[in-house]
Amino acid sequence: MTNVVTKATGGTAKPVGLLYIEPDLQMRDAGAGTALADSGLDAAFMADLLSACVTHERCGLQLYRSVAARTTVDELRGQYEHFGEETTRHVEILEELISASGGNPSYVSPAARATEKADSALVEATWALAGSVDVPTAELAMLEAVVLAETKDLANWQLLDMLANQMADGPIQEQLTTAVAEVLAQETEHYGWAAGARTKMLFGMATGGAEPPATEEIVDSTDMNKEELYATAQELNIEGRSQMTKEELAKAVGEAGGEAR
Ligand SMILES: [Fe+2]
Ligand SMILES: [Fe+2]
Repeated sequence: MTNVVTKATGGTAKPVGLLYIEPDLQMRDAGAGTALADSGLDAAFMADLLSACVTHERCGLQLYRSVAARTTVDELRGQYEHFGEETTRHVEILEELISASGGNPSYVSPAARATEKADSALVEATWALAGSVDVPTAELAMLEAVVLAETKDLANWQLLDMLANQMADGPIQEQLTTAVAEVLAQETEHYGWAAGARTKMLFGMATGGAEPPATEEIVDSTDMNKEELYATAQELNIEGRSQMTKEELAKAVGEAGGEAR
């Protein structure tokens, strides 16, 4: 697994505008010659997107390491470490997928460079005020960086889920579907926990320690993969569920209220 892509790790990049890339490290179309070319999707775009997604996971790893080392709250440290371990696995999964397609997991697309820039700023925001803010504000800054990082992380995997459903059948489609089945539920938990912990922290600060009121949990069926949708359809006792496609399950769950679990 590669944490930070450099020339030494086999890094290649697309030369755009003012960016100079050594001639033998230039990659003008990272999708060409890979299995993505047979996926029915735009192979060059998909290669650039996967590069951006794995970059976001790598940056997430650095964020979790950084905040886990600095938080003063045991509960937060436990979650940061746990999510950091799952994020390590997400990096591995995406690297394996890119390698299996015939691509280079150390290719850095323009979208990946933009992602790294934004994510570096997120980490920077957690320590830029160190020494000049009180401990609760410093904790909040770290937690908010996690909320923002996980918002994009969840959105990335929801998109990969949709794209896996759109891809032509084949080994890459199967591998991406398996990856989504493992990761999407974790991303839903990462985002849900982080957003909830932020609300709890801020509500507690504003009220002198009160718990925020419980909100009714509504499960958005569009966030679920096929296995989760099937499980929800089972709980709702939806007839004909075993014959349904993912889209039909999502529709049926939505029509049945989508409030299971
Ligand atoms: Fe992730
Ligand atoms: Fe995540």
